[in-house]
Amino acid sequence: MADYDLVIRNTTIATAADVVRGDIGISAGRVVALGEQLDRGRREIDASGLIAVPGGIDAHVHFDQDTADGSVFCDDFESGSRAAAAGGTTTIVPFAYQNKGQSLRDTVNKYHRRAEGKSLIDYAFHVILTDPSEKVMGQDFSALVADGYTSFKLYMTYDGLKLTDREMLDALAAARREQAMLMIHAENSDCISWLTERLEWKGMTAAKFHATSRPFVVEREATHRAISLAELLDVPMLLVHVSAKEAMHEIQRAQARGLRVYGETCPQYLFLSEEDFDKPGDEGAKCVCSPPPRDVENQEHIWTGLSANTFHVLSSDHAAFRYDDVRGKKLPGAAQSFRKIPNGVPGVETRLPLLFSEGVNQGRISLQQFVGLSSTNAPTTYGLHPRKGTIAVGADADIVLWDPKRRVTLANAMLHHNCDYTPYEGRQLVGYPVMTFSRGELVMEEGRMNGLAGRGQFQRCDRPEPARPSGKPLIDPSIFN
Ligand code: URP
Ligand code: ZN
Ligand code: ZN
Repeated sequence: MADYDLVIRNTTIATAADVVRGDIGISAGRVVALGEQLDRGRREIDASGLIAVPGGIDAHVHFDQDTADGSVFCDDFESGSRAAAAGGTTTIVPFAYQNKGQSLRDTVNKYHRRAEGKSLIDYAFHVILTDPSEKVMGQDFSALVADGYTSFKLYMTYDGLKLTDREMLDALAAARREQAMLMIHAENSDCISWLTERLEWKGMTAAKFHATSRPFVVEREATHRAISLAELLDVPMLLVHVSAKEAMHEIQRAQARGLRVYGETCPQYLFLSEEDFDKPGDEGAKCVCSPPPRDVENQEHIWTGLSANTFHVLSSDHAAFRYDDVRGKKLPGAAQSFRKIPNGVPGVETRLPLLFSEGVNQGRISLQQFVGLSSTNAPTTYGLHPRKGTIAVGADADIVLWDPKRRVTLANAMLHHNCDYTPYEGRQLVGYPVMTFSRGELVMEEGRMNGLAGRGQFQRCDRPEPARPSGKPLIDPSIFN
């Protein structure tokens, strides 16, 4: 009789804390033993030469999501989750987008219907809060948090999404009461629209002027303002997709003051730069995302932010729009403006290979930091740890085997998303995931997908400990509670 459903043998087991050698025993979808020379498994995998890491958690992806401007993402939960698993990710946290006035319960139910029967891997939801009015929040905010939706994204820019400072305060106060995590898209909306109008009047409409319309100051100001609001009410928050060193410095200053302020950055700010906007023809549109990639020198600052632990998570912000498509990024006609190019880049499948190759193999971050940034810190931040994000007895057996020496040249043709390009075409990497297990089931082997669409399960998030207020408020919370 076998003792385990599966034993992964002779492997290097890396967590955010340790790197050890041994075997992993898996039964009923969970890790049940870690040790040396474990007893027999019904299935055995000799993983010598490979590294076993906790499956990646990509806590910032946009799949089959409504948008304020009517642009259409090209990945749904099936293609998006398939691409995630192929790139070594085993849990995704996409967004449920609240239309103004829509109840929060209706919002999440709508996205459950979109994910069910489609997602190959496990998933939770963040809610994009566009209407924090008393009517909406009083109705079901507290019940929603109790039911496992414990993170909310607030936008400071984009018509139809952006909140005023006053609305932000309403949302912050509610998050504080419920110990929910807030994710902030920090860019100054009025500066962007003012600059955009002037650029268009001057006929400066090419894709590269997208970056001109959103300079680093616009991000820095909004980051500073968001942190000030958080400090005022003593509410933790995470600044998402931080692109520039100036915004990063605001986060560092807040952290140095002891505030519970966290940062997320993304591969596009490590691997793309404003030079990519100068690609021939309309190709610059492929890299249009917000905030935009900055200059080449900025990339090293963002790497330093990762190695110095200023950033807590590296997410993909997978927001994929096809390029050569009527609804895509390549706009017909010279009169069209960068303003109309849908914002976002694909990246759910390339996030971890890029970080492993350029981070771990180039010695910029340790293997433990890689695991923290890609797997462990996100579920801690959003209330899914220790079920997700670690290799430990009792945790879900979401495990990825990496070949640290595998040489791969990235090409869109090898990727599993539904996008017609990758901004990282031709990039040479060392290290790649070769097997992905989701709750003990092998869903990807050597780029071939085995798991069935719809096998992924919804994960309820706990109230995250990092969202707990510090207890040192500037003003008496009884005023706003
Ligand atoms: O350009 C981006 N980042 N698009 C996705 C939406 C968002 O703000 O994260
Ligand atoms: Zn955003
Ligand atoms: Zn995003």
